[in-house]
Amino acid sequence: MAELLKIDNLFAGYGETVVIEGLSLSLADGEAISVLGRNGVGKSTLLNTVLGLTTQHSGSLHYLGKDIGKVPSHERAVAGLGLVPQEREIFPSLTVHENLRVAQQPGEWDLDRIYELFPRLAERRRNMGNQLSGGEQQMLAIGRALIGNPRVLLLDEPFEGLAPIIVDALVDAFQKLRQGSRMGIVLVEQHAELALELTERAIVLDRGKARWEGESKVLLNDPDQLAQLIGLGAEDE
Ligand SMILES: Nc1ncnc2c1ncn2[C@@H]1O[C@H](COP(=O)(O)OP(=O)(O)O)[C@@H](O)[C@H]1O
Ligand SMILES: [Mg+2]
Repeated sequence: MAELLKIDNLFAGYGETVVIEGLSLSLADGEAISVLGRNGVGKSTLLNTVLGLTTQHSGSLHYLGKDIGKVPSHERAVAGLGLVPQEREIFPSLTVHENLRVAQQPGEWDLDRIYELFPRLAERRRNMGNQLSGGEQQMLAIGRALIGNPRVLLLDEPFEGLAPIIVDALVDAFQKLRQGSRMGIVLVEQHAELALELTERAIVLDRGKARWEGESKVLLNDPDQLAQLIGLGAEDE
């Protein structure tokens, strides 16, 4: 089984600021892993570092066996790393169709398959990015990453701030897109229990370090430990 990602003793951040402090993580073919933790612990920074959007200070980052620590961000995307950023970042003045087309790379995911996964996007294909609801924007952000045919899909809080019925639709799509797929997935989420249900393994971050790592079902079956690791939000406010 090919190892998609291997992160070893990684230190990374913004300029001189170190946010990720000695993190190690691996992702196997077809595997999905949750990255959990309170606000501000470095979850987005970790995903952004995999994409080459931050400063990597030390440690190593291998993708498909190759050290990509010095590879420019756009080359990482072309090579098969797909990010759905926390801010979604769809193009407001392009249509849904155009947003998808600009991201297209050869592979099994094409426009038809994206529209089949998200029928709502097919209905909205001629609407501008800035005319979409939050849920539609998130569908488009995911569709745009998929149509790049990534080997690794990095999802940054895809269910954040969405109504339960939209979350259900996205969860359904998440499960469908995994069927028969060798794509590896890193899922950053605040909805910890949902993320644990959707993934095989999990890592809980605390101030840029791994505080817990193991099988998702272990944490799912131990709500006390989960609450202790993630906290109940009180310390953040
Ligand atoms: N662009 C940035 N420049 C400097 N510091 C940042 C930037 N983005 C995030 N940070 C800081 O890095 C830390 C981790 O942030 P982040 O990775 O966004 O956390 P999370 O996604 O877990 O909520 C926080 O202290 C945050 O203030
Ligand atoms: Mg974040």
